[in-house]
Amino acid sequence: MKSAKKRNFNTILVTGGCGFIGSNFIRYMSANYPGCNIVNLDMLTYAGNLENLKDIENSSNYHFIKGDICDRRLVDSILSGEHKVFGDITENGGSGGIDCIINFAAESHVDRSIIDPGRFLKTNITGTFTLLDSAREMWGQSGAKLFLHVSTDEVYGSLGESGYFTEETPFAPNSPYSASKASSDHLVRAYFHTYGLPVVTTNCSNNYGPFQFPEKLIPLVILNALEGRPLPIYGDGKNVRDWLYVVDHCRAIAEVMYYGDLGETYNIGGNNEKQNIDLVNLVCAVLDETAPDSEFRPHSSLIKFVKDRAGHDRRYAIDSSKIKNTIGWEPEYSFERGIKETVRWYLDNKKWCERVKTGEYIRFYERQYC
Ligand code: NAD
Ligand code: TYD
Repeated sequence: MKSAKKRNFNTILVTGGCGFIGSNFIRYMSANYPGCNIVNLDMLTYAGNLENLKDIENSSNYHFIKGDICDRRLVDSILSGEHKVFGDITENGGSGGIDCIINFAAESHVDRSIIDPGRFLKTNITGTFTLLDSAREMWGQSGAKLFLHVSTDEVYGSLGESGYFTEETPFAPNSPYSASKASSDHLVRAYFHTYGLPVVTTNCSNNYGPFQFPEKLIPLVILNALEGRPLPIYGDGKNVRDWLYVVDHCRAIAEVMYYGDLGETYNIGGNNEKQNIDLVNLVCAVLDETAPDSEFRPHSSLIKFVKDRAGHDRRYAIDSSKIKNTIGWEPEYSFERGIKETVRWYLDNKKWCERVKTGEYIRFYERQYC
């Protein structure tokens, strides 16, 4: 069923590897492809947390670089091999030994993009451009390389009551976040068509799971509920998202990395549409069950409808038949299992939550590396 022969990668450059999905991806790769060297380039914005990779940081095949994907000199030095990462391996591999870039680095929160769009344009557009252009120059005509761009279903805009986003759906982004991601997707496409850069793009639906920063809906609801704080629902709560467990997304990215066809885009979704109000009620019910001693049960009593988000997309839903039919990927986690594991993870990792809430995690880099 897989459309191409399996690629082989010695060393991959993961950008944004200290964020939610990037850190889950590095953990997934370490567990499933232990022979693959991983370089993680992350600027450590508020969303980047080195503690997300505490269990990996001393692995001999993992190397962290603190830096900005917009920094052309730094990116060039990594791809040219000037910035030594894995000694001999790097020298033997050529082009810095990096034979695949997986670009997660981004500003990713829609509400922040409404307040401060400039940062989104810089990282998401200029940052992606910097990586693409450096790869074009440093990789030259070398065939055995890959630039995998991780994007979102939000580039397609908003659906009505019916229908699904396919890879052919025209882009119609409605927020500064989705507009900046759409721009980056276009640049990736242009580098394939104009320069023949070996690229592939994934467009995924909403992720949930361990290590998600508690500004996004699900971790926000879990942490607020445990403290007896209001659970804010925007507008009428009937906006629909298609939720995918993060490990399923990571597995999809790895599959596309090894088997995806160059120049193609792949939609990735959870077949799991939920209205926000139903989702929050479900999370509350799981919390009631998993934290029976909580003084705030039933947690759903904390739900509070608040002013709607500006330009709030009504419905996202992914048709992921292309990746299923050509690569053989489909979600493995049911929503029931994924959400239980997620709630359990936040309950079992109170220190991580505390340090994220107080901002203590930001000081970890200085203690660890300075
Ligand atoms: P996140 O906000 O949790 O993490 C982003 C990471 O990028 C952080 O570690 C941050 O420090 C780093 N970063 C930001 N700016 C940088 C820069 N200029 N240079 C280097 N590093 C920088 O995001 P996430 O939820 O893990 O999303 C990762 C990617 O997946 C994004 O590109 C996002 O658009 C895409 N995506 C996310 C979802 C989702 O539901 N979270 C769904 C589909 C696609
Ligand atoms: P979010 O997790 O921010 O992801 P995205 O905007 O990328 O889909 O939000 C998911 C949905 O939940 C979205 O429809 C907005 C809504 N939402 C709330 O109702 N309340 C909140 O406090 C947040 C953060 C989001």
